[in-house]
Amino acid sequence: MNVQLRDLPAHDLTSFISAESFWVPDQIVDSAWIEHAPFGFWLVDALRPRTIVELGVHNGFSYFVFCQAVRRLQLQARCFAIDSFEGDQHAGFYGNDVYDDVSRRNRRHDGFSQVIRSTFAEACDQFADGSIDMLHIDGCHTHDAVRRDFETWLPKLSSRGVVLFHDTAEHSPGFGVHLLWDELRGRYPHFEFMHGHGLGIIGVGDNIPAKVRRLFAASANASSEQAVRATYERLGGAIGDLRQAREQKRQFSEMQARIQSYEQSTSWRLTAPLRAAGTLLKSARRTGAWIGIVLSALAHAVAGARAYDAERCPRCIR
Ligand SMILES: C[S@@+](CC[C@H](N)C(=O)[O-])C[C@H]1O[C@@H](n2cnc3c(N)ncnc32)[C@H](O)[C@@H]1O
Repeated sequence: MNVQLRDLPAHDLTSFISAESFWVPDQIVDSAWIEHAPFGFWLVDALRPRTIVELGVHNGFSYFVFCQAVRRLQLQARCFAIDSFEGDQHAGFYGNDVYDDVSRRNRRHDGFSQVIRSTFAEACDQFADGSIDMLHIDGCHTHDAVRRDFETWLPKLSSRGVVLFHDTAEHSPGFGVHLLWDELRGRYPHFEFMHGHGLGIIGVGDNIPAKVRRLFAASANASSEQAVRATYERLGGAIGDLRQAREQKRQFSEMQARIQSYEQSTSWRLTAPLRAAGTLLKSARRTGAWIGIVLSALAHAVAGARAYDAERCPRCIR
């Protein structure tokens, strides 16, 4: 989008951001949702949901953002993470380790959060009609699948109910959330973020809290809409940058450890004279031919020692 906040008219953004918008996720894992964390924190505070359900958990990034907000705000909410934990055509297919890892990380939210390993359709009967205040739909992203998820779960939403859809701005082949979104935004009060593949939120209940209603009202005014979008794009970008910096730091430490073990290997130490000879040879080319002959002989001897080492110690790092 590339809208700079300084290019926009002054806005009273205090209705749309809060201290929660600046929180940093406790658990930063690989996810296409990463840049929506600041809004996720804000929304949980603004909506104060009693029941949160997520359809499509994978590594748990968005889900644990919601849980972090519930815990830190000390809300009396219950959260449910529903996924087959098998993957799908867009997320890719994966093994049991993903479920094990999400279950382990869920322990810190044990009192109010439950991970349900199931298809969305099979889990639906566990929820009473009108009982869910916040539903995040982030399962398979084909038009048919997302429509089915929405229609199946709509009766479960309460009078304060809001539904979030990820990937509303994703137009790659096979992604059809944008098609459903185009219909729904004509029917329900809504707001859409365009960054991070797009995140759409609609209000389906008739008793939506005032802060969330104000967000929906902002989408009717182009410059307010731009201001809110640019604010969360900037805040979300900072979380994305943090993740990248951590990843680069991890890769750097890994590389350092490999270099260290390489430098401590037998062959590295044995071939030290060869490397020194190489350096001397270069300077010999400048100094005179005779020293080059002497150093070539030395290099030959060291190469012999290296071959001997390879034979005696084939598992050494070379
Ligand atoms: C895009 S990922 C979820 C991403 C996650 N919300 C995040 O924050 O990164 C989609 C997940 O939905 C799950 N899924 C897709 N269709 C499903 C279905 N019908 N029932 C259960 N799980 C499903 C897949 O197993 C996959 O883990």
